[in-house]
Amino acid sequence: MKLSGGPLGAAVLLAAATLAFACNGSSDASTDRENVVASPEGAGAGPGPGSVATKSGLPCDVSEVLRTKCQTCHSAQPTSGASVSLVTWSDLQKDHGGKKVYELVKERIHAESGRMPPAGQLTDAQLGSIDSWIAAGAQQAGESCDQAEAPPATQPFECAAPAKTIVLKAATPFKWEDNSKVDEYMCFGVDDVVASKRHVIALGPKVDNLKILHHVVLFQTKDAMSNEAQPCTATASAAWKLITGWVPGWGNVELPPEAGYPEEGTTHWVLQIHYNNASGKYAGESDSSGFQLCSTDQLRPNDAGTLAFGSSRFKIPPRTPKYKIKCDYKLGDKYKGVKVFSAAPHMHERGIGIVTERLPGGTGSPEVVIGREPFSFHDQVGQPVDKSLEPGDVMRTHCTWKNPSDKEIGFGENADDEMCLNFLYYYPAIPDQVVGGVPVQTWTTPASPLPLHGPKCEEED
Ligand code: HEC
Repeated sequence: MKLSGGPLGAAVLLAAATLAFACNGSSDASTDRENVVASPEGAGAGPGPGSVATKSGLPCDVSEVLRTKCQTCHSAQPTSGASVSLVTWSDLQKDHGGKKVYELVKERIHAESGRMPPAGQLTDAQLGSIDSWIAAGAQQAGESCDQAEAPPATQPFECAAPAKTIVLKAATPFKWEDNSKVDEYMCFGVDDVVASKRHVIALGPKVDNLKILHHVVLFQTKDAMSNEAQPCTATASAAWKLITGWVPGWGNVELPPEAGYPEEGTTHWVLQIHYNNASGKYAGESDSSGFQLCSTDQLRPNDAGTLAFGSSRFKIPPRTPKYKIKCDYKLGDKYKGVKVFSAAPHMHERGIGIVTERLPGGTGSPEVVIGREPFSFHDQVGQPVDKSLEPGDVMRTHCTWKNPSDKEIGFGENADDEMCLNFLYYYPAIPDQVVGGVPVQTWTTPASPLPLHGPKCEEED
């Protein structure tokens, strides 16, 4: 996939599995901003085009970093699970769990695990702005700064005729009813019926209410699902075909000219939407987020697909500063001519490293396909890849975790379970199989917990 506006990535659950996320992109936020167009009223009156003069009480450079890198989530009404606002000087002076918010900011922009922002990195100059302001006592400033409007939550979605845009939305908006609940997973389906085969060549989020929207995962399924959203468990999705996903900060996804996701006859699209009410105050909020697809009858040479390499069967012992596994998956004949064009690694909070290598012919010297070392849950970055795979190659995935807790940790979708998955986006798509009468999703196989299908894993030093 070409990453327009940045990001790509998706996280998933396999065996007992659910989806979560990986992403990239907020590093592009400042670039987006340069595209903000001057509003007529802005011209001539006061600061630069498209800007308004604001007094946040913060030095302008600090304010600018927070605006471009943090306020997607830490806005005046925090969204996406963040609980503090990072907009004004007084926001940063508040107490939060025994510390000043600016002290937490100082910690989190340098933290080894839980680094902020979750995707992308602050540059040395941006870190320097915040660090030196805090080092000098986090004083209030009287500056008026030129501030462009906040960037739109989603970029414009382009789908030029004769391709057509399909909008995937639920019949009725989701409504958050109960403030004692923190997480809610909802699923709904949309059927697209086509007379002849088409290719989806771009995918983009339709973001409605960022206060409660946490992430969206897009699947295709065998059976139709109601267009009325209903609570869904993570488990169901192991039987579905993963296409892609979205988390705050990501942009639209454009496929390379060689490939498209196929639609034939009736395609059952399913969205799984994770809502989050971590602040406990969003009862009454509603949302009708979804996805939009650009579908064309001008077929690309290949169908695209998604694969997950790694493991969904491991036990991380308690009180271990470093636990590492190595999983080998040998590619069968069906991988002939497979080209990987993008990848996104995914682990949870205890993950500190994930690398997938290709060993040509099974014994060749390992070449890295996609790796994040050190890995940080809050900085999951998808990236373009250009690799060809061949039957007989071994795909080796190394995953490393720390487990300071007193409990053994295994694979699972909850925040305190763990994952070890590298998502690869590729073409031509490998058809799903039926093994012993049981349908097996191609995308889940390279990290399957079933010994017959899955990888061979062992501990490493
Ligand atoms: C994509 C959304 C997102 C962006 C962008 C983001 N954060 Fe966060 N932040 C979160 C979430 C979710 C949490 C709560 C979970 C956690 O603590 O990791 C959080 C937590 C924090 C906390 C702890 C207090 C709290 O709200 O729970 C601080 C401090 C923080 N972030 C600072 C920053 C700074 C500074 C930036 C920008 C440099 C930033 N964040 C960018 C999502 C984001």
